[in-house]
Amino acid sequence: MSGRTERTMGYRVIKKILPLSIFIGLTFAASAMAGPEEDRLAIVKYYAERFPDVPLQEFANGLYAFDEDAREQWIEMEDFPPYEIAIEDGQALFEAPFANGKSYADCFANGGIGVRQDYPYFDTDAGEVMTLELMINRCRESNGEELLPYQIGDLAAISAYMAYTSRGNTINVKVPQDNPAAVAAYETGKQYYYTRRGQLNFACISCHLQSAGLKLRADRLSSSLGHATHWPVYRSKWGEIGTLQKRFAECNVQVFSKPLEAQSIEYRNLEYFLTYMSNGFELNGPATRR
Ligand code: HEC
Repeated sequence: MSGRTERTMGYRVIKKILPLSIFIGLTFAASAMAGPEEDRLAIVKYYAERFPDVPLQEFANGLYAFDEDAREQWIEMEDFPPYEIAIEDGQALFEAPFANGKSYADCFANGGIGVRQDYPYFDTDAGEVMTLELMINRCRESNGEELLPYQIGDLAAISAYMAYTSRGNTINVKVPQDNPAAVAAYETGKQYYYTRRGQLNFACISCHLQSAGLKLRADRLSSSLGHATHWPVYRSKWGEIGTLQKRFAECNVQVFSKPLEAQSIEYRNLEYFLTYMSNGFELNGPATRR
């Protein structure tokens, strides 16, 4: 009980500025008919005006874009990045043939090298959003291999290797406007991002849009922009590498809301929206966070 009280108290500051989210929510709701590109440009404009000294690509570095001290520690950590082992493991796993002699390279464009920027995408035949992690498991499935857990472990390592081979490429997620199902998936993801939930009644935007750069207990809050550039992430708190949807689940829990299954349709749509917001950013994963 006391733990709950202590945690909840840390959110008071943010609760105070919550009414602002109504304003921001309305601004974006007004552009609901405008489409993904208008949404993205509105968000870019919002951060550019609010943080005129932060160059756009810097937002890809999460809270380190705002916090000098944390940034220094982070840069030091990059001297011997703790995700390096995951990249090596991931490469070995990626290159190991399946029992039938085929391999991951057979499932992806360009043999799976340098393709991270094209995920997630909307699969017209399946009528669903496909993420990289989902396609890694689909590849296994179609080759008669067992599925891997989505949040950590071997699948995260394979994803880390694939992200590494894509570093420097520009995120290029597409929402085909002539496909109503794709547009609907994007809109559903966007709606999830703007909907308040949990006992604390926060939406994703409450923390990562209007409270970005502000301190929530020990950390400054990162911006929505650039949230999709650097996954998977080695977190000191996790002590291992984890996927973006592991982070979604954790942020749900932070507001005392029940997390969804990794790779559920809802989380995939959310990833579709959030990654679209990072279009134009360079990939820089895997990364470290504390
Ligand atoms: C109560 C505030 C709060 C809410 C609401 C919240 N988060 Fe977070 N989130 C955090 C904190 C704190 C961190 C860790 C510090 C940081 O990177 O911002 C974080 C980190 C993240 C990160 C990792 C950032 C990075 O640089 O690696 C992502 C992605 C993220 N949140 C997405 C979401 C999504 C999606 C939602 C809505 C489902 C959400 N968050 C809701 C507080 C929140």
